[in-house]
Amino acid sequence: MNALLKSQPTVFVIFGGTGDLNARKLAPALYNLFLENWLPNQFALIGTGRTTLSDDEFRGRMLADVNHFSRSGKATDGQWQGFAPNIYYQAADVQDPKTYREFGKRIKALEKEWGAKANVIYYLAVAPNFFPIIAKNLAEAGLTADPTCTRIVIEKPFGHDLESAKQLNQLLGEIFQEKQIYRIDHYLGKETVQNIMAFRFANAIMEPLWNRNNIEHVQISVTEQLGVGERTGYYDGAGALRDMIQNHLLQLLCIVAMEPPVSFSAEEVRDRKVDVLRAMRRFTPENVRDMAVRGQYGPGWLEGQQVPGYREEPGADPHSNTETFAAVKFFVDNWRWQGVPFYLRTGKRLHRSASVITIQFKDVPHFIFSPETAETMRQNRLVISIQPEMSIRLQVQAKRPGVDMMLNTVDMVFDYKGTYVSEAPEAYETLLLDVMLGDQTLFMRGDQVEEAWDLVMPILNSWQTRTSQNLPNYSADSWGPETAEALVAKDGFHWFTLPLNGKK
Ligand code: BG6
Repeated sequence: MNALLKSQPTVFVIFGGTGDLNARKLAPALYNLFLENWLPNQFALIGTGRTTLSDDEFRGRMLADVNHFSRSGKATDGQWQGFAPNIYYQAADVQDPKTYREFGKRIKALEKEWGAKANVIYYLAVAPNFFPIIAKNLAEAGLTADPTCTRIVIEKPFGHDLESAKQLNQLLGEIFQEKQIYRIDHYLGKETVQNIMAFRFANAIMEPLWNRNNIEHVQISVTEQLGVGERTGYYDGAGALRDMIQNHLLQLLCIVAMEPPVSFSAEEVRDRKVDVLRAMRRFTPENVRDMAVRGQYGPGWLEGQQVPGYREEPGADPHSNTETFAAVKFFVDNWRWQGVPFYLRTGKRLHRSASVITIQFKDVPHFIFSPETAETMRQNRLVISIQPEMSIRLQVQAKRPGVDMMLNTVDMVFDYKGTYVSEAPEAYETLLLDVMLGDQTLFMRGDQVEEAWDLVMPILNSWQTRTSQNLPNYSADSWGPETAEALVAKDGFHWFTLPLNGKK
């Protein structure tokens, strides 16, 4: 509990209050923050949407969402009665200035009731084409004039390419100060992702190893069993590179590759991360083919269920060239990482859902054991499993028990499950709390987003002009297209998968 926050009256306005993000993530996150006593004593949530609803009807919807999606399970009557009176609803036409005058009145009324000025957070959980109009209207209604107590939260996607991201940054920059803008990348709120920073910068033994002298290569793999399903409307214009690599996976790469910040302050951490993006080697139209591969899933079977191919998903273009899998080889051109490849891959409808970072160390400089022993010898690996397993394991060589000298690989494991009893918060709980606290460390700064777009643009351009003739090129329940294997195999590596608790 943060005493300062508890005493700070706060109004949370959610644009898209009747939408999917609020149902699945925001409502459960705010409710869990309430249960764990993190919300300010004077707190109001105002949901908005096009549908006309009374406050009570909206409360009923929120309760259903919490019951369905909250990690804490169904709300008890007593708990819900404590939270529900803080919830309000206002039907809104985001194009209409009148909407914003109404907000202004509501907020003033709450401030009058509380006898204090409130922090007001505007959360844009709407389609990106509404970002500009909402931002402009908020400003014109004078609702964001005080930069000390008004904040705006922008969901992804932040831009569709470099140009559109720049335009959005410019527009927001004309209305808000950077310290008011919270660009969400929900991966940064994940417990295990934050822990990478603790692991790197709160342990003295890591830093001396963390460079090109000891590390051979890095893999960042975010694989999903889920298909695109109902989301083709958004996804068909996006694809895996925009949807996952430009943001989530590059953010993970930044955390692995960044220099130690001087302090854990938002600007320091974000400066060091943007340094990584700036140092990353740019692709040329000629080398994209060697550095990046794409795939699209065809129909198949997954865990006993028959699943459609991407082109057969509801609303998908039957000839779509959109990639549902992408793998890219990056380099970070600086003293620490020169020559160390970073392989990133992500895809849908793959064999298993797992987000794992693997850091493979170099071979021992000289091998002293017998040739038979060499067969089971493996290089050391540090495996950071972000989800679903939450663990860090260091794979080392040990002598297998017996009269002869045989080696095998054993894991030194830090596992959240075995170490902590309390459940980790959802990413959105951490992020929403940080917005209320005014802490931008886990949010993307404007220059970061632009650098990330700049980096992936040559791939996007090349894929757009070079339509692939062989899509779909992987089936459900596989690890993606063969070309993804080839991307790492030509450097002498293979993609690692984490053996999970007896699961295949
Ligand atoms: C979202 C993408 O940002 O992240 C989705 O738009 C993807 O396509 C999701 O499925 C993955 O998030 P998580 O937290 O389930 O790994």
